Amino acid sequence: MDLNINLPGTPARVSRVMVGDGLGAGLPRILSSFLGGRTDFWICDECVWSIWHERLAQWGWPEPGCGRVLLFTASEANKRLSALEDLAGRLVHAGADRGSALIAVGGGVTGDVTGFLASIFMRGIPHFQVPTTLLAQVDSSIGGKNGVDLAEGKNLLGTFHQPDVIVMDPAFLETLPAEEFRQGMAEIIKTAMIGDAELWEYLEMHTAVLARHDREPLEYVITACCRLKARVVEADERESGARRLLNLGHTVGHALEKLSDYRIRHGDGVAVGMVAAARWAVRLGRLPQDVLARLERLCAAWDLPVRIPAAFSSDEILDAVHADKKRIGDTLHFILPAGIGWADDCAGLDFSGLKEVLIGMRE
Ligand SMILES: NC(=O)c1ccc[n+]([C@@H]2O[C@H](COP(=O)([O-])OP(=O)(O)OC[C@H]3O[C@@H](n4cnc5c(N)ncnc54)[C@H](O)[C@@H]3O)[C@@H](O)[C@H]2O)c1
Ligand SMILES: [Zn+2]
Repeated sequence: MDLNINLPGTPARVSRVMVGDGLGAGLPRILSSFLGGRTDFWICDECVWSIWHERLAQWGWPEPGCGRVLLFTASEANKRLSALEDLAGRLVHAGADRGSALIAVGGGVTGDVTGFLASIFMRGIPHFQVPTTLLAQVDSSIGGKNGVDLAEGKNLLGTFHQPDVIVMDPAFLETLPAEEFRQGMAEIIKTAMIGDAELWEYLEMHTAVLARHDREPLEYVITACCRLKARVVEADERESGARRLLNLGHTVGHALEKLSDYRIRHGDGVAVGMVAAARWAVRLGRLPQDVLARLERLCAAWDLPVRIPAAFSSDEILDAVHADKKRIGDTLHFILPAGIGWADDCAGLDFSGLKEVLIGMRE
């Protein structure tokens, strides 16, 4: 699959998305046609490098010894401004300048750090994304949002900087631990729920082949998610309207992540958050009960949690929800599912209904 994300502005900007088994092997050739004479510098997750370096060498990818590959420790703890400063210094030593381009190889952490760095290095240079986790392939590498964390919270510093090209090869997922795969599945379920009923049915029928990491079904779901996210980003690049729908499950999810000091992973938080949103929507008469049951079944099929750990009270979750909404100046909005493939951005809801829902979801 090959698609363009057409972004507004003068001159018009385009982000190219390519999804396909075997694209990794052809990457040096693909990139050379987009580099336009720029020197390529690769920021590569060192874990991905250690697992994949033999194959990458066979595919003709540059190696760290050539001076243009910088290995990066990809962890949430290292998604900080200090990592940007460190990488920027290494890039300068390696000879990078305004005529360079960055290539991110890794999951969402590597992609976010590289995208942010590209947006400010020498006042901005182009970058390319080569996502290697399911979450990065279906979500974080598309749309140009990036960020790093502060002690005060996640993703509090960042920019919008669209990658020129995003190249996804499902082959990379072969080595992805099941725990990481699950995190990506939560975002896929979310994508289907907000805007793709066909994808939803596909997910219900293909759990086993997806769990085996079969390439064809993976390519299908990655492509479907890219198409939907591309459509949403084209309509609302800066998240002032339609892009907010992508936050289904994220309000309660973020609260749980934060309250657990990030021991609850993002995808797990989103799964619980989607179920909470669906239960609230059922109470409000906005969603048929059987859709909630299908959501819970699909999450359970991927071992994604659908209950709230007993350690957290509904009051503290609600407080965290309000603190988050206040921080982003978004007191009114909450995304509620309205059916399979359909969600609404709701304003003016009475949050006491959510409290009842949270109480009913405790383990
Ligand atoms: N920019 C956005 O729009 C956006 C959207 C969603 C999430 N995010 C960000 O993305 C980050 C999470 O992304 P992630 O889940 O990809 O995390 P990650 O980059 O930390 O990767 C998860 C783990 O998988 C390893 N890994 C990566 N590829 C692998 C492979 N092919 N085989 C084996 N191991 C591999 C990594 O080394 C890491 O240990 C968060 O920081 C989140 O804030 C950004
Ligand atoms: Zn998310």
